[in-house]
Amino acid sequence: MIYDVEEKKKKAGEKAVEYIEDGMTIGLGSGSTVYWMIKRLGERIKQGLEVKGVPSSLRTEAWAREFGVPLVYFSEVNRLDLAIDGADEVDPDFQLIKGGGGSLLREKLVADAAKKLIIIVDESKQVQKLGSFPLPVEIVRFGWENTVRKLSTFGCNPTLRTTEDGEAFVTNNDNYIVDCFFDAITEPEALHRELKLLLGVVETGLFLNRTNKVIVGRKRGVDILE
Ligand code: 5RP
Repeated sequence: MIYDVEEKKKKAGEKAVEYIEDGMTIGLGSGSTVYWMIKRLGERIKQGLEVKGVPSSLRTEAWAREFGVPLVYFSEVNRLDLAIDGADEVDPDFQLIKGGGGSLLREKLVADAAKKLIIIVDESKQVQKLGSFPLPVEIVRFGWENTVRKLSTFGCNPTLRTTEDGEAFVTNNDNYIVDCFFDAITEPEALHRELKLLLGVVETGLFLNRTNKVIVGRKRGVDILE
């Protein structure tokens, strides 16, 4: 079963590399589907493709180094040709929940700098309505207890994300993640706007109105949605 899901992620990740052209600067997202994309990209680079990547997490940066993908940073580039990233949920309008891996802030900064965004998922990530997956919200550590209390007034059950050792999960930006359990998210744009106004909230995992293409890995192959 797990192997089956990994195969679907691999298909989606590898397919995305076909959209990468010589000379491009690519935003490299985060997560296990992106892993397959970076691995395949490394193979293409060995065959002569010339690209550079901006990583959206420390883990992605490590994978890029492992597979020989040259890295650049925002000190050297300001506009990216394309970003490729995974997602936790994708609805029919290409609205997303991201942040399951805790990298949502850097992922959003990378996606925002890119001319185009391709999302790569296995088919289990497709939903009719967002909200079954708990919405990750990145918050500052100081006063987190109070921020969590305020988040609960948004009609969700907010839970501080912890590691397997029971310690608070700390993001690459030194913040915490709160996973907000909603029954359903009916108005994602309004929710995102209101959450952003809450003191202590850094960013939400709602990625709205920015995806150009979704590649869905299935058992029989991939679907390209645009
Ligand atoms: C990390 C993310 C990931 O893209 C998302 O969690 C999907 O991960 P995976 O490809 O491992 O299922 O948003 O913050």
